[in-house]
Amino acid sequence: MALAVIRNDDKTPGWLEAFREADPQIAVYDYARPHPKEAVTMAAVWKHPKGSLSQYPNLRAVHGLGAGVDFILEDPDLRPEWPVMRVTDPYLAADMAEYILAQVLAYLRQLPDYQIDKSRTVWRPRPYRRIADVTVGLMGLGTLGRAAARLLGAAGFSCCGWTRSTTPKADFPVFTGPQGLKPFLASADVLVCLLPLTPQTHGILNRDTFQALPQGAYLMNVARGPLLVEEHLLEALAGGKLSGACLDVFAQEPLPAGHPFWDHPAVQITPHIASVSEPGSVVPQILANYRALLKGEKLHNLVSRGLGY
Ligand code: GLV
Repeated sequence: MALAVIRNDDKTPGWLEAFREADPQIAVYDYARPHPKEAVTMAAVWKHPKGSLSQYPNLRAVHGLGAGVDFILEDPDLRPEWPVMRVTDPYLAADMAEYILAQVLAYLRQLPDYQIDKSRTVWRPRPYRRIADVTVGLMGLGTLGRAAARLLGAAGFSCCGWTRSTTPKADFPVFTGPQGLKPFLASADVLVCLLPLTPQTHGILNRDTFQALPQGAYLMNVARGPLLVEEHLLEALAGGKLSGACLDVFAQEPLPAGHPFWDHPAVQITPHIASVSEPGSVVPQILANYRALLKGEKLHNLVSRGLGY
């Protein structure tokens, strides 16, 4: 019985170390190195290479190494009987909330523009907006969205939220479903997307969505690249409907050289770092699920295949 860590980047050693520290008795293998494939019962994955899951004849479950699991559910090798689990982690939620707060404040005080001015030796005071005058609209009110709303609320922002189906209890206005989308958007000066990527949300940040926002609204996508129709964003920026955007995720990552976002003065870019799973914090919950799987006990943070998250 063993676990395999399957990812395509340079972070595997850190994860293996965290597994060893948490429980040296459990065998955890690196997908990229030779290991007994038949021993592996659970795979812990992050953007795993296509075809990797089918190499494990005794695989019984797949655990994501982050909050989003779209890349797992899209895998044609994923068997219907395999439970899929994701990470719900207090650091992941707090880090996301802090990133959003930092970016909203930077936008209100136009800090990115001053960076550009500095690089050109330009002294140019600009008008600014206050927290009290801005409503942040959160699309998606899962663990991350709710943490963001708490921090933004504590900082003095008004928030509103939109969810696709269920309406969670909240001390700010929450709109639900297709009929709630337009009124939600109409009140969002800053739109922050935290939705999971599913067939229903693919391309939801599109021309119609932008049209329903207040003139000059700001967009932040911290969820998944394909939620955004990139050409529609460029169009909305060019037409002045949106005053700017902050993007942490992209349809293609790394963002290819020559992509129009790189040079766009109104588009802030970060390389998918808004909130990054910390192995030391996340590994205990993966191991708890692994032990539960072996004992036939209840698994936590199970993903609904129907909902896609
Ligand atoms: C990050 O993108 C995650 O899904 O955890």
